[in-house]
Amino acid sequence: MTAFTVIGGPSSEQLAKRIASRLKSKFVRCELRVFPDGESKITLKDKPEGKIIVVQSIYPPVDSNLIHSLAIVSQARSYSSQVYAVIPYMGYARQDRQFLPGEIITMELVAKMFKAAGATKIIVVDIHSITALKQLQIPAKNVSAVEELVKYFKKLSLNNPLVVSPDKGGIERARNFANLLGVDFIALEKHRDKKTGKVEIKTKKHDGVKGRDIILVDDMISTGGSIVKAAEFLKKQKSGKIYACCTHALLIGDAEKNIIKAGVTKIISTNTIPSKTSVVDVSSIIVKAIV
Ligand code: R5P
Repeated sequence: MTAFTVIGGPSSEQLAKRIASRLKSKFVRCELRVFPDGESKITLKDKPEGKIIVVQSIYPPVDSNLIHSLAIVSQARSYSSQVYAVIPYMGYARQDRQFLPGEIITMELVAKMFKAAGATKIIVVDIHSITALKQLQIPAKNVSAVEELVKYFKKLSLNNPLVVSPDKGGIERARNFANLLGVDFIALEKHRDKKTGKVEIKTKKHDGVKGRDIILVDDMISTGGSIVKAAEFLKKQKSGKIYACCTHALLIGDAEKNIIKAGVTKIISTNTIPSKTSVVDVSSIIVKAIV
């Protein structure tokens, strides 16, 4: 019997294969069929053995990927008493509190559902908030992709680089990133309208930006609004090249086009969400959290 079986959910098959290969474990593929009414049917293509690791990211379509994840975890539990749910991108983690009266804290429901489905441990990568992590009702571990992202930037020859967080909430991430790279960092002041979602950069001027290459660091890029506004500000301050870097590149709608139009040279992200920007692999950090 193998020590582990890695099951690759439909949203994370390639990452799951990498994890299985690092663990030298059995890999089980899932077949997904979507019926005309929108219901999903998932079939495990082999029998899992030993401790089971289910890898399934919850990026758009978020609700489908969530139900797929829960279904696989539930089935895995019928084969093993130990089922680790690896959720590289934890959807709903931004709904960890009530911003306006009446809003539902959906992250709490997601947490209940993983427990009910039978997960015995959860591993996430750069979850949006510690509050969301704490809402999980079973042992959970959050791993940071910052070191892996920094390795990518160490290979580039940048001109007097400056790490920039588009908001104060990301200051610790920017500090950590900058320390690992051995450069300076700043955090801009961002305001987001809670009703419309519109983003504004409140910082008016920054003297230390002129001529320097910028690494704009965030946990995720969704609509691209935060990065667009930050890049426009940095360009006004006459920065050098701007790289936008994040763990999770959701890149909804025209996000990528708008970010490039705002003056960003390149978007760099990890394979928690597979796309053409996901050039940084997180399989090694996930494996470290498993063993
Ligand atoms: C906000 O707190 C997050 O860290 C990101 O800055 C935000 O979710 C990015 O969203 P968007 O790309 O839509 O501005």
